Amino acid sequence: MAMIEAKGLTKLFGQDAKRGMPLLKQGWTKEKLLAEAKLTIGVNQADFTIEEGQIFVIMGLSGSGKSTLVRLLNRLIEPTGGTLLFQGQDVTKMSPEKLRQFRRKNIGMVFQKFALFPHRTVIQNVEYGLEVQGIAKKERREMAMRSLELVGLKGWENSYPDQLSGGMQQRVGLARGLASDPDILLMDEAFSALDPLIRKDMQDELLELQSKMKKTIVFITHDLDEALRIGDVIALMKDGSIVQIGTPEDILMQPANRYVERFVEDVDLSKVLTASHAMDKAETVTTDRGPRVALQFMRDRGVSSLYVVDKSMHLLGLVSAEDASRAVKENLKLVDVLQTDIPTTHPDTLLNELFELMGNSRLPVAVIGDNRRLKGVVIKGAVLAALAGGSNGDNGDNSPQNGGAAHGTA
Ligand SMILES: Nc1ncnc2c1ncn2[C@@H]1O[C@H](COP(=O)(O)OP(=O)(O)OP(=O)(O)O)[C@@H](O)[C@H]1O
Ligand SMILES: [Mg+2]
Repeated sequence: MAMIEAKGLTKLFGQDAKRGMPLLKQGWTKEKLLAEAKLTIGVNQADFTIEEGQIFVIMGLSGSGKSTLVRLLNRLIEPTGGTLLFQGQDVTKMSPEKLRQFRRKNIGMVFQKFALFPHRTVIQNVEYGLEVQGIAKKERREMAMRSLELVGLKGWENSYPDQLSGGMQQRVGLARGLASDPDILLMDEAFSALDPLIRKDMQDELLELQSKMKKTIVFITHDLDEALRIGDVIALMKDGSIVQIGTPEDILMQPANRYVERFVEDVDLSKVLTASHAMDKAETVTTDRGPRVALQFMRDRGVSSLYVVDKSMHLLGLVSAEDASRAVKENLKLVDVLQTDIPTTHPDTLLNELFELMGNSRLPVAVIGDNRRLKGVVIKGAVLAALAGGSNGDNGDNSPQNGGAAHGTA
């Protein structure tokens, strides 16, 4: 079941805001609604689903409705229209008591302003929310300590916030958000106040934490690089509407409209795209075939070399037409003439790292996954095409040109 499911979720600011719903449905713009009905669009009929364990990033310019959207999720802001389900329960219909419980048990929040209490120690700050929930002292201490350990601040529990660096203070904020072990963590520009290097560290740390905790995280940012780094899914907002939802790759490679395009046009793709994006199908021969068969395959497929694999697609090496001919003449097997010193990489290697690897070799780069299974092959031309923004084949594009070029060793 989805963690969160929103349909037509809307927030209008202004008097008697519900009267604006039919106007929105008629397609009134933000300007028109403000000028003629004195209503401000916060969020306009947002449809989205957040799956359990996802990092769902909400991105957009200032005023696009990010904070309003995230505050609708725990009803810190009352929706004007639409529906919102949390694990199938209708949040908009929760009683005040149920809503209080929902906020305490199920949701944690981390804000941009660390909002730490200066006169409370680190541990007292972290256990604040638990204290408010009325959890007994011993238990909340333990929960807070676990949370501090998670963010790497064990040993600092008795310090005061002003004794910590900005990054450490933000980690205290994170520990506080995590202390009650919520299902969902809402993070509104949580890292935006940090300087760039510390910010990057915090992003790494969040990703590492996430691999252990598997929380559902809703992360707001107006920074595209940050969104691309940490988002499983990115929702891009403009004037209260979600203009595109997709994976980072979707957003980069298939921008839904000119607005999204403008958002992404300055991205350095080489720092975002990976070998798996630029990969073509590798032409292979299994090791039980003889060199004559290999030569025939090369002729049929118009390539000058083949990757030699076992029946489970484990990569053993590369055989060129010359190697195969020699094997035929000297009555050798394929395994006797294999080149094993060939460049390989992992599917997640960034293209800018791949460039270096390719610079040193005339051979294409074999992409191998876990257990040395051959996934595909990357050639220079494909990397350049991917960086130029043309989506170079989905993995497994098997056009003859690709196949041919992929194995040309010249
Ligand atoms: N309490 C409010 N009363 C009236 N209008 C509001 C209120 N809160 C937000 N708005 C309006 O709703 C729109 C969305 O604001 P919101 O704060 O959600 O934007 P944001 O994307 O979080 O921006 P930022 O990046 O600056 O934080 C803006 O036009 C804003 O002026
Ligand atoms: Mg905001």
